[in-house]
Amino acid sequence: MKESWSWRDGCLGPVLPRRGLFFRDFLLQMASLVSNLSSTVSRLSLLRKSSLQFRLRVQSKWSKPRPPFLRVPTNYDSVRFSSRSKLVSASLQEEELTVLGIETSCDDTAAAVVRSNGEILSQVVSSQADLLERYGGVAPKMAEEAHLLAIDQVVQDALDKANITEEDLSAVAVTIGPGLSLCLRVGVSKARKLAGTHILPIVGVHHMEAHALVARLVQRDLQFPFMALLISGGHNLLILARDLGHYIQLGTTIDDAIGEAYDKTAKWLGLDMKKSGGPAVEELAREGDENSIKFKVPMKQHKDCNFSYAGLKTQVRLAIESKKIDAATPVASASVEDRRARADIAASFQRVAVLHLEEKCKRAINWAFKIEPSIKHLVLSGGVACNQYVRSRLNTIAEQNRLQLVCPPPSLCTDNGVMIAWTGIEHFRMGRYDPPPPACEPADAMLDLRPRWPLGEEYAEGRSEARSLKTARVHPSLTSQIQASIHCHRQPARDVVGCGDVQSSIARHHHKARYAQQGQGLPTRQNQKKLFFI
Ligand code: KG4
Ligand code: ZN
Repeated sequence: MKESWSWRDGCLGPVLPRRGLFFRDFLLQMASLVSNLSSTVSRLSLLRKSSLQFRLRVQSKWSKPRPPFLRVPTNYDSVRFSSRSKLVSASLQEEELTVLGIETSCDDTAAAVVRSNGEILSQVVSSQADLLERYGGVAPKMAEEAHLLAIDQVVQDALDKANITEEDLSAVAVTIGPGLSLCLRVGVSKARKLAGTHILPIVGVHHMEAHALVARLVQRDLQFPFMALLISGGHNLLILARDLGHYIQLGTTIDDAIGEAYDKTAKWLGLDMKKSGGPAVEELAREGDENSIKFKVPMKQHKDCNFSYAGLKTQVRLAIESKKIDAATPVASASVEDRRARADIAASFQRVAVLHLEEKCKRAINWAFKIEPSIKHLVLSGGVACNQYVRSRLNTIAEQNRLQLVCPPPSLCTDNGVMIAWTGIEHFRMGRYDPPPPACEPADAMLDLRPRWPLGEEYAEGRSEARSLKTARVHPSLTSQIQASIHCHRQPARDVVGCGDVQSSIARHHHKARYAQQGQGLPTRQNQKKLFFI
């Protein structure tokens, strides 16, 4: 079987061709993979110099002054590398890297070149605002086509603006999830093609981790542990970041994210969606009376840190209908009275939407202090963190709890390539990356895409109250994978079989088991997306 390799579950594994594979072969492949575990599989140990088939394009620490913020980790109790990878990892910590980041998880095609000293050499974003306006939301097939049209140019522009060629890169980082798989595929294919052609290592990045970690590029002294509220179009996450790759999920949304509620409110109010719905609602809300409509604050009775915006969306829709607002009439041509009514709804919606964030965030801070009393920072990131009202309300919460709010500038809050490149740099320095893919990877190679990929494990205290967190087809969390790999590398050499135990514990989470239970399993073209990791 023709193999290429991919970062999967913290381990290196083959990318399976989409067709012509029988389940028995598939299992045999997996069995041999597990037996080869000690030498080949972990992202944390794949830096055996003798096996490096590619040149690490890094600059010697002596050629440039060492960037002041490069943190030599002191608190890596949880990270133990094998002695060889430890050496390589230590040297990577000190080298200067230049990384291309590619982001296509949703509706923006973005690329950027960032250096490990925090210098942003270029940042290019091609947004699908016109599509958003036309469809009132993200239509996956349209978004995929828009990415396909834009990706080559966006990446080339990023390299040109950085005044470099592919040969100057140390690695390529790309979002592999969560997001729309059709869209993720465009970015991952481009990254693999580029990395294969120019023999570059590749780092698969978690989109939400990138939203959080970009704060460490903005504020160089931001150390773990810290808390983060990540608010975007598809996600509402409260996390405790204990270390790189170690996150506890304190809260998430049980239905819609706040950005989705902003976007729908904008659409129903007939606002200009050119810059997406959020900014339009924020702008109109400034003219309105935020106390004019008493929307109910969601999930008041739930003593957890989860969010829900579906009910608030319905309340807004009903208010709009009751005021007989016609979305077909753009707000710019509405009467004074009509405009006032729309502004009142926008302001009242925003007050309650943000109050919900504040309440859950307060509780999450209390929980986080119980786990890590030393936290000093609250990171606020994701597209909705561009909102000035959100920033100022969350700043008050942070101050009340003696935390410093760290909020990246708007261009780094909305989806961008910088955050992907930076997160790639952070993991690359820890030795977590894949070797270059084959130069001529088949066009139908099955890619490791993770549309539903939690960042961390749920905090036990928060688990019971969530009403309907969907778990179907959820990939094991980034944290569980990395921790399992670390655990694997803690085992003494005689205990290599122990890695198999870790592997089986990873396997317990696996879709393979889930799909096997469901009587699905063969990687056909129809179900191939379900079988990309083992
Ligand atoms: O992080 P992001 O760029 O993409 C996703 O990962 O979803 O977030 C996009 C979301 C959209 O829902 C957009 O309306 C919202 O961020 N957003 C805002 C503002 N700017 C962007 N929401 C409220 N106020 C804003 N100023
Ligand atoms: Zn995002």
